[in-house]
Amino acid sequence: MLITDQTTGPISVAAYMRQCLTNPESGYYINKDPFGTEGDFITSPEISQMFGELVGVWVITQWMAQGRPPNIRLIELGPGRGTLMRDMLKAFQSFPPFKNTIVDICLVEASPTLRMSQQRMLCDAAATETEEFMSSTSRYGIPVKWYGNLKEVPRDVTSFTIAHEFFDALPIHQFEHTQNGWREVMVDYSVPQEKTPLSLPGQTRSFDETPKFHLTVLPYSTPSSKIGPESSPRYKNLSVNSKIEISPESWDVAKELALRISEQKTPQAPTGTGSALVIDYGPAETIPVNTLRGIKGHHFVSPFEEPGTADLSADVDFTSLKLVAEEEGHVAVHGAVEQGDWLHALGIGARATMLAHQQTTPEGKDRIAKEYHRLVERSGGAMGKIYKVMAFTPRGTQTPVGFGGGVIDSDEDVD
Ligand SMILES: C[S@@+](CC[C@H](N)C(=O)[O-])C[C@H]1O[C@@H](n2cnc3c(N)ncnc32)[C@H](O)[C@@H]1O
Repeated sequence: MLITDQTTGPISVAAYMRQCLTNPESGYYINKDPFGTEGDFITSPEISQMFGELVGVWVITQWMAQGRPPNIRLIELGPGRGTLMRDMLKAFQSFPPFKNTIVDICLVEASPTLRMSQQRMLCDAAATETEEFMSSTSRYGIPVKWYGNLKEVPRDVTSFTIAHEFFDALPIHQFEHTQNGWREVMVDYSVPQEKTPLSLPGQTRSFDETPKFHLTVLPYSTPSSKIGPESSPRYKNLSVNSKIEISPESWDVAKELALRISEQKTPQAPTGTGSALVIDYGPAETIPVNTLRGIKGHHFVSPFEEPGTADLSADVDFTSLKLVAEEEGHVAVHGAVEQGDWLHALGIGARATMLAHQQTTPEGKDRIAKEYHRLVERSGGAMGKIYKVMAFTPRGTQTPVGFGGGVIDSDEDVD
């Protein structure tokens, strides 16, 4: 894939990520299903049904806390295979008063391949396409619609939005604070100076002369280096040699999610209705630095090797999402808290114990215990610690479950 432009020189890390991930012809997400043991990575909803069920329970607690709005929309950003939504919908079947309020499910997905996986996961009916969106009907009779961008999803009813491992795929810009001010770190390419023999001498092409991508700091300022690091007091006072990553695209989504909540005002709910739940990896408070990574075959790889063949992601800057949502979206923000704590507050221990009791074989019981531990484990770089959960809710409403606002169930630990 040719992704730098010889007429314009190096491109931003954000432009590089966008091309690698969502280029309409050869982007990583566009033509393949990267999930599972055969794929490049595994996500929490793919590890266990408990994850989607508990996200579903959280949505119901929010709906109840907000006076049970009569018509609601479920939105998921980057639904992958559709597993999380499938498990949420299954959980909703035990709560008819809630499930009967769902007017539609709107999935925001860039990949045509994954849209088809989601359609197969959620619907028996075939999909139809109009100019505006692809649509089908879920097995539970709820209309399902696909969009390429959250801004295309109608804003006419209360929405409950889930973004699981979505923000980490959004493009980031990198900057370095030099003696001369902030400079953007760009992606450039060059032919390797140290030549690696590829074939026997005498053959026409005996050295690896494939251009290699690498990072380079621009020696001059650009509009984004003036605007990006100047955009927040968090960056302004950082010392020389500091590096930062910022994701204006993520801020835009966070603002849109928040406005969808604060704009849904009713006389009974003067600060709005609906919520958004963001689950992803990244620091709860600090600014991400040098976190761009490639993931292939369940291993970290260079983000610059074979562009378009590895997943690229970067840590989510939860504090920046919080600032944008509070200041520009006028909502209350809760967290980020660690996934392990959040799942415990939602009752994962009790749910795992119940599922383990339903298993008829030792292998079945062992599988449930392993899934539970994988989701909540905190030691080292385990998922229960590195994944964080953040919620946006209407201002002035009660603190949500999982963020200090009470627990669902007694949390017996599974062996
Ligand atoms: C890491 S996967 C997570 C999938 C799923 N949420 C899960 O946890 O299993 C990222 C998802 O976001 C989608 N995606 C990535 N960038 C996107 C964009 N700019 N717009 C819409 N969808 C995007 C991908 O196609 C994929 O479905």
